[in-house]
Amino acid sequence: SGMFTYDPGFTSTAACQSAITYIDGEQGVLLHRGYPIDQLAEKSSFMEVSYLLLNGELPNQAELEKFNSTIMRHTMLHEQLSTFYRGFRRDAHPMAVMCGVVGALSAFYHDSTDITDPTQRMIASHRLIAKMPTIASMAYKYSVGQPFMYPQNELSYTGNFLRMTFGVPAEPYLINPIVERALDRIFILHADHEQNASTSTVRLAGSSGANPFACIAAGIACLWGPAHGGANEAALNMLREIGRPERIPEYIARAKDKDDPFRLMGFGHRVYKNFDPRAKVMKETAQEVLDDLGISDPVLDTARELEQIALKDDYFIEKKLYPNVDFYSGVILNAIGFPTEMFTALFALARTVGWIAHWNEMISDPEQKIGRPRQLYVGATQRDYVPVGQR
Ligand code: CMC
Repeated sequence: SGMFTYDPGFTSTAACQSAITYIDGEQGVLLHRGYPIDQLAEKSSFMEVSYLLLNGELPNQAELEKFNSTIMRHTMLHEQLSTFYRGFRRDAHPMAVMCGVVGALSAFYHDSTDITDPTQRMIASHRLIAKMPTIASMAYKYSVGQPFMYPQNELSYTGNFLRMTFGVPAEPYLINPIVERALDRIFILHADHEQNASTSTVRLAGSSGANPFACIAAGIACLWGPAHGGANEAALNMLREIGRPERIPEYIARAKDKDDPFRLMGFGHRVYKNFDPRAKVMKETAQEVLDDLGISDPVLDTARELEQIALKDDYFIEKKLYPNVDFYSGVILNAIGFPTEMFTALFALARTVGWIAHWNEMISDPEQKIGRPRQLYVGATQRDYVPVGQR
């Protein structure tokens, strides 16, 4: 039927109106509520950016302090939730654990699942932002066989997450301010990215009136894929596999070979066709963190060299393929001490703010309807049922 516009991958369909994030893919521009991403990454904090995404304006000092203390007050998980972890194998992927535990939150916080009540929506939003670090760090602790660490609310959002992940009850944990700042910056760079696949998933799930915890679990499931959030894990694994600069040409050749499904992970983007402004900040931060920690990581050298070679190659030039946010983030997370399996869980932690901002925007939109895409039917025409013995 010619009634519908056929647009696989939604490359040219605007599914909603939104006032949260602006992207100009040709110019490499990314603005959150009007503010350029590089300014936010350099000067702001993840808590401030979270407030901005949720409320539309930067907070003043008093508003920021109140927001911070509200978020930090919600960091604990219902104690019963810790038993969920023990049901998983120790080698479970943290994203599998996150899908399950976040989905289960709606069974514990009944007082914030009525989406018609703005106060309940706000409490659910705060709970999700506050509990994601606790949930992600517990997934890590379970995998390494160490005791879960309770949050400490006088720490910063990101400092508390570092302590819950890398601290142990047996000794005090000293937060390295450079590491804390770098991770906070990574969170800022991942906080939102308009109607990407996982955000669209959250909106679509939410359009039916499903509760916010269930919607964010849907977003986590979508983010897991290697074409989306899973790319940071895949990119570092690829750089490790390449191992040394001499082997780069072999991988470039594979990426260009149409008979080989291999792609350069951390390269290319649906919207950015010039450069990814987040990748620029990420590359600088990678150097800073490695310098500060006194690490010389051959993976960073391989990444830089690969970027250089690819940017001069006709295939990548013609298809406008550039490093994306995930190309350098893995190098930093690896230097901080996160195993690759945790990378996408950290992306989910940071993106929860964007997801919940979009979910709130959608629910408050008077034009909001259940999402219900149409299709071009290409199957069999009507035919009569034939009993099994006559087929
Ligand atoms: N390596 C080699 N070739 C590539 C790559 C790549 N990384 N990315 C795209 N191409 C080619 C692709 O084969 C296609 O060639 P042709 O026109 O000959 O068929 C052309 O470039 C256009 O690619 P596409 O798949 O049609 O473009 P898309 O907009 O649907 O996909 C993408 C965008 C990000 C999924 C894709 O570039 C990709 O798979 N990249 C690797 C995974 C990755 O790094 N993802 C993270 C994206 S940023 C963070 C996030 O979204 O979570």
